[in-house]
Amino acid sequence: MNISIIGAGYVGLSTGLVLASLGNEVFFIDTDKEKVKRLKKGRLPFQEPLVEELLRIGIKNNSVKFDFTYSGTIPKSEIVFICVSTPPKVNGEADLRYLKNAVKEIAKNLSKKFITIVIKSTVPVGTAGWVRKFLKRTGKNNVAVISNPEFLREGKAVEDTLMPDRIIIGSDSSRASKFLIDLYNPIVKQTFENIIEERSDDEIPLVLTTNESAELIKYASNAFLTTKISFINEIANIAENIGADISDVARGVGLDPRIGDKFLNAGLGWGGSCFPKDTRALHQVAGNSGYMPVLLKAVIEVNNEQKYRFLHKIVENLGGEVSDKTIAVFGLAFKADTDDVRESPGIEIINRLEEIGAKIRAFDPMAVENAKLLFKNRNVELYKDPYEAVKTADVLVITTEWSQFKNLDLNKLKKLLKRAIIIDGRNLFNPAQMKKAGFKYISVGRK
Ligand code: UDX
Repeated sequence: MNISIIGAGYVGLSTGLVLASLGNEVFFIDTDKEKVKRLKKGRLPFQEPLVEELLRIGIKNNSVKFDFTYSGTIPKSEIVFICVSTPPKVNGEADLRYLKNAVKEIAKNLSKKFITIVIKSTVPVGTAGWVRKFLKRTGKNNVAVISNPEFLREGKAVEDTLMPDRIIIGSDSSRASKFLIDLYNPIVKQTFENIIEERSDDEIPLVLTTNESAELIKYASNAFLTTKISFINEIANIAENIGADISDVARGVGLDPRIGDKFLNAGLGWGGSCFPKDTRALHQVAGNSGYMPVLLKAVIEVNNEQKYRFLHKIVENLGGEVSDKTIAVFGLAFKADTDDVRESPGIEIINRLEEIGAKIRAFDPMAVENAKLLFKNRNVELYKDPYEAVKTADVLVITTEWSQFKNLDLNKLKKLLKRAIIIDGRNLFNPAQMKKAGFKYISVGRK
């Protein structure tokens, strides 16, 4: 099929390059000319190993093209995917500016033939309805609008696209739905070749529904996951007060298959480009609809509070004053295996510590370059070597769940730190072992 992808960001590139690898011809349109130039040379704007490989293959076999204008590609396309970002406004609502611009540009360039517009960007309920009305008003009737939300995780973009838990298709056009079902057939049937070795044993479930339900499924899924994390963090805080161990509690709770053991890791809370934005947006969508979402409000509050509790632990363990202290922070990315620092809990901890006068020496296995842009002219030094970062520091603080941190040489760390204190916001180590290794070790929800 001939496909256009509007927005060569994380979702757009991952989706488009996977579709190209399945035998489709894919045109990417992005208004950022520099990005388009770099992509044409095979350079990704973010780190994601398999996506980079697919980009190289797509360029080599001519199945992917990049442009910053719509006119060359839209008239030729059978399907157009909208994958532009929907960043939060100050009030938490999703900003639909880029999406609306994309729709206007698509409308200007539509030919007479039938075309399916697929909204992959995470959007408030009612957005597909708006797009449909807009196109009708501009006299474009041979168009269908599908809501097909994306659930991929950073660091697992290709696997999640090829082996998703489900595919959601919200539509009012059976003709357009059929197009999309055909397009996704190698994924649903797990018959794709050569990209990844793994396959799901079962067919991927397809949920065919209305646009509104599809839009809500995306928000509800992310909000459920943030609820799960905020819930376990609240239990961790209770565990701390009553002397229970949150790791054992989470294991015991998660063994109930109705609950499940995923997303029950207590710690500093959730961050990233999706969870904070989408949970706040759903809160706002609910309010606009006339419903006060009490639970969502609490989920957001627990997540904010969690970082302050952790901050308090750091200050307390440094004798109540940090202005004369140097703090080593391990973890700048919002989670492990990515260089993404957007709404990273670690960055927020650094910001607050710096505000109260601490000197920061930070390390991250992947995110140092991205963090540099945030810390220009600040009292924050960034290191690519963990042992360099802890030199002369009074304490080591862990803010991201990188598994590499578990393999660090603890004896070396102890020698380099001024005081053998580790404050772990991701519960990476066993408290008893850390004590044995000679550390004062403080974590979340554990003694
Ligand atoms: C998330 C959703 O998982 C994905 O389905 C959606 O499409 C986009 O948002 P992502 O942002 O890549 O994906 O990150 P994810 O792995 O879900 O983690 C989000 C945050 O939650 C991270 O800050 C992570 O540290 C935190 N987290 C996750 C916890 O604190 N505890 C957990 O148990 C799991």
